[in-house]
Amino acid sequence: MTKQLPTHVHLHGALCPLQNARVSVFDRGFLYGDGLFETVRAYSGRPLALATHLARLRSSAHLLGIPLPRRPWAADIARLLRRNRLHDTDASVRITVTRGTAIPGLLPPTRPRPTVLIAATPLDEAIVEAQLRGARAVLLPFSRDGFLAEHKLLDYLPGVLGKVIAKRRQAFEAFYVNTAGYVTEGTTTNLFVCHRRRLITPPAEGILPGVTRSLVLALAAASGVRVTEKRLKAQDLFSADELFVTSSVAEVVPIIKLDERRIGNGRVGPLTQRLQGLYRQLVDKILQRS
Ligand SMILES: Cc1ncc(COP(=O)(O)O)c(C=O)c1O
Repeated sequence: MTKQLPTHVHLHGALCPLQNARVSVFDRGFLYGDGLFETVRAYSGRPLALATHLARLRSSAHLLGIPLPRRPWAADIARLLRRNRLHDTDASVRITVTRGTAIPGLLPPTRPRPTVLIAATPLDEAIVEAQLRGARAVLLPFSRDGFLAEHKLLDYLPGVLGKVIAKRRQAFEAFYVNTAGYVTEGTTTNLFVCHRRRLITPPAEGILPGVTRSLVLALAAASGVRVTEKRLKAQDLFSADELFVTSSVAEVVPIIKLDERRIGNGRVGPLTQRLQGLYRQLVDKILQRS
């Protein structure tokens, strides 16, 4: 199926046909990447863990000094999904917030009026296949580091380049490797390895503290799996029994090949499968409550 643009977006506080959606050429998001975003997965019209995503958005907006407008986010998203006929399927919902339009110059305006865009698209079909059969990842010769990496800022050029490299090598994901040789995270995912039934993931410093990462860590701990947060080198990934990545959109995706090497026996491992199942159960439970 070829991907299509949505017919409507939610912009400046209202639903709007795509062809009428306009953002100023002096919007600071466009000029400087001065803004941030969140991506939430909606299951049959219901966004999962929206409050957690909004809390992360709010805290990053606060750090940047961008006043996040008060919106009935859940209602905005529900209307957008219905309008695009994405209410009875799974969809990816992106909330983008920029500091808004101002006279050009790096110094931000004292009273910014943020631009808020909400857009929804159908899920990438490759995700289902990757979840089921496992996928390939590659190591990148660069990273996205420092405290800014802990926020979902608009500047995703390392991710763009990473995805280009992944695609060229027919991989689902690409992992950042920093100058100290540590593998930090994927372009849009957090990473986990399983060594002798122990689950290890890099600590949430200098990486995006994923909503799914937290959910999976809690699920693993609650089901008796030993969990450690520890920095990982490429060799720790190559020697892992299992390797998987997590994100709101992709949930839990097994990685069975890294660069040219098989991970474990090259098949989806039992712990990954168990966590995929537990995550699905959690999704059902959360959605039943909402
Ligand atoms: C760099 C990066 N790391 C990790 C994640 C996973 O985060 P979450 O589980 O909150 O979707 C993302 C999601 O887009 C990301 O961009």
